[in-house]
Amino acid sequence: MEMSFVPFVQSPIEVVRRMLQLAKVEERDLVYDLGSGDGMTVITSCREFGAQAVGVELRADLVKRSTDEIRRLKLTGCGRIFQTDFFNFDISDATVVILYLNTPTNARLKPKLEKELKDGTRVVSHDFEITGWKPLVVSRDNPLGHAIYLYKLPESLVGSDGSPPYTSSSLA
Ligand SMILES: C[S@@+](CC[C@H](N)C(=O)[O-])C[C@H]1O[C@@H](n2cnc3c(N)ncnc32)[C@H](O)[C@@H]1O
Repeated sequence: MEMSFVPFVQSPIEVVRRMLQLAKVEERDLVYDLGSGDGMTVITSCREFGAQAVGVELRADLVKRSTDEIRRLKLTGCGRIFQTDFFNFDISDATVVILYLNTPTNARLKPKLEKELKDGTRVVSHDFEITGWKPLVVSRDNPLGHAIYLYKLPESLVGSDGSPPYTSSSLA
């Protein structure tokens, strides 16, 4: 097992909603959840925010579970899960990327995010920073107090300007 192995741990629904709110997800967005687990972020993006959503997940059982649930909820026109390694998956059409991984995996993903994502794309990470990027917001404003980091390209790239890294989470 490599050091950055990420097990399945579900984001609580309150945290999922807050991540999507912080990213200001709306109908014109295409949300990617990298490591989509049981698909709840994809489903919530579709049902509650009206966005299109894509999940990428390695584990066959989770892909089946989330795909079955998307079918059951009649969301197949909106949400889709791919069974593959997200490091090998083109994410260039995302407008929002959701992460609940760990710090080493975020660090490994960072060059891919910087290369593939277009300006204006928001990246939201539950609990774990993207080291070297400046979050626009660090919010713990959810019932469980979990940390949520909101980034936006290109503003979050270090050195893009000299301004302080944080705005108050109360502004989010
Ligand atoms: C902590 S869980 C988060 C699940 C979901 N995003 C959520 O927030 O509830 C991380 C998920 O990423 C998946 N995963 C880990 N590495 C992956 C990779 N390289 N490609 C695709 N999925 C991966 C794991 O199988 C696991 O389901």
